[in-house]
Amino acid sequence: MTVRSPLKYNPLMAKRGKWKSTLGFVLAAAGSAVGLGNIWRFPYVTGKNGGAVFLFFYILAVIFLGLVVMYAELSLGRATQKNPVGAFEKIKPFSPWKAVGFLGVFTGVGILSYYSVIAGWTLYYFYISSLGKFSEKLTEAQIDGIFSSFVSKPFLTLPLLLIFIFITSFIVSRGISSGIERWTGILMPLLFLILLVLSVYSLTLPGASEGLKFYLKPDFSKVNLKMILSAVGQAFFSLSLGMGAMITYGSYLPKEDNLFSSGIEVVAFDTLVAFLAGIIIFPTVFTYGLSPRAGVPLVFKTLPFTFSKLPLGRLFGPLFFFLLTIAALTSTISLVEVATSYLVDEKKIPRPRAAFLVGAVAFLLGIPSALSTSSRFFSRFAFGKSFLDLMDYIWANLSLPLGALLLSVFVGYVWGAEKAAVEIRPDKSRKFPGEDLWIYDIKYFVPLALSVILLFAVLGSS
Ligand code: TRP
Repeated sequence: MTVRSPLKYNPLMAKRGKWKSTLGFVLAAAGSAVGLGNIWRFPYVTGKNGGAVFLFFYILAVIFLGLVVMYAELSLGRATQKNPVGAFEKIKPFSPWKAVGFLGVFTGVGILSYYSVIAGWTLYYFYISSLGKFSEKLTEAQIDGIFSSFVSKPFLTLPLLLIFIFITSFIVSRGISSGIERWTGILMPLLFLILLVLSVYSLTLPGASEGLKFYLKPDFSKVNLKMILSAVGQAFFSLSLGMGAMITYGSYLPKEDNLFSSGIEVVAFDTLVAFLAGIIIFPTVFTYGLSPRAGVPLVFKTLPFTFSKLPLGRLFGPLFFFLLTIAALTSTISLVEVATSYLVDEKKIPRPRAAFLVGAVAFLLGIPSALSTSSRFFSRFAFGKSFLDLMDYIWANLSLPLGALLLSVFVGYVWGAEKAAVEIRPDKSRKFPGEDLWIYDIKYFVPLALSVILLFAVLGSS
């Protein structure tokens, strides 16, 4: 089975000519982008960083950094038809630029390790919600209790981590089957639909206006650099950028595909999903007097309220957590895929072995994160953060922006922004809309903004 399979002809999607493969790609890329990053991470970092101000910078980061870097990754991937390490190597052979590809491979494994811990929690919440745990009206103390007693049990969190990574490695080892691709095409819109229903419900809650005020009415006196860094990190995290996932996905794209429109579609859909998650969470938080700053557990302590009060909550709860588990799975697949495609292409390791090797490393690295909620040692590992928080900070807030910075310099100057731009054009003889702006952005704005932000972040935290 080759790695090209995610874009294989899909009869369900096929309607006319070129469109079918583009849609297959958009689904795979959107599947990678939409995940826990949107529904777990986005609301909790937004809540922690003061709400609306954060949202404001997040949206700026998505448009002026995310979308721009998305095109850079996709064009580099498609032009070279390689994994991230191979892509840099192909354009600039025997140069240190390859290291950026390696950084991506490591970052993927790093993110995978703790992301899968949270995915394991989701799986558990699917399980208990289908047992009807959230069907009766619960108090805050009860919901807290369910969460705390679960995460304090390593004999639950560790096996869940293992199961989740195993499923991911298993799927990647077979090549991403067209079955999964078809499922994504059905389940993702379903997830979106549920999010819409839950948002409408949230907006009817008594705390809705307070929640929306927190979420949508920015207080610019709260701006600070750490928050801006988090917004940038979250934008890259949510869009699966900065570590070569989109280089890898772009490398499976046929030449005649329209990169330009696919890029926008993925970015818009991903941002919309995150936005809706906020619309669901914050009214609920304020209705039940919870804290928007609860951090990592926020979603797990908030949504059960929604399901325990919702008329069809008994049904919606399990369905929601099931779909979230699938969304997480289509994201972890892309995380495993990057390192796997590197091992397969460059090291000639058979795909199944490569996929399980990556999974095994991620599992070992994930153990301390899985223990972050039960062991005293890992719950306050360093800098007052738990091991999981620390991993999240290092990989998402530092490594992704760093990867994106190096990539923008590479695409802007080494490969040449003009060449990349031609790759993005749907019609090679004509500039794509905003092409000049994109060139300017990737050459000057992205490197400059990311250098400044990273520099201050490093100086500020030491
Ligand atoms: N974007 C995914 C999410 O929001 C997570 C993810 C998948 C990711 N692949 C990635 C993040 C690559 C960064 C890089 O859940």
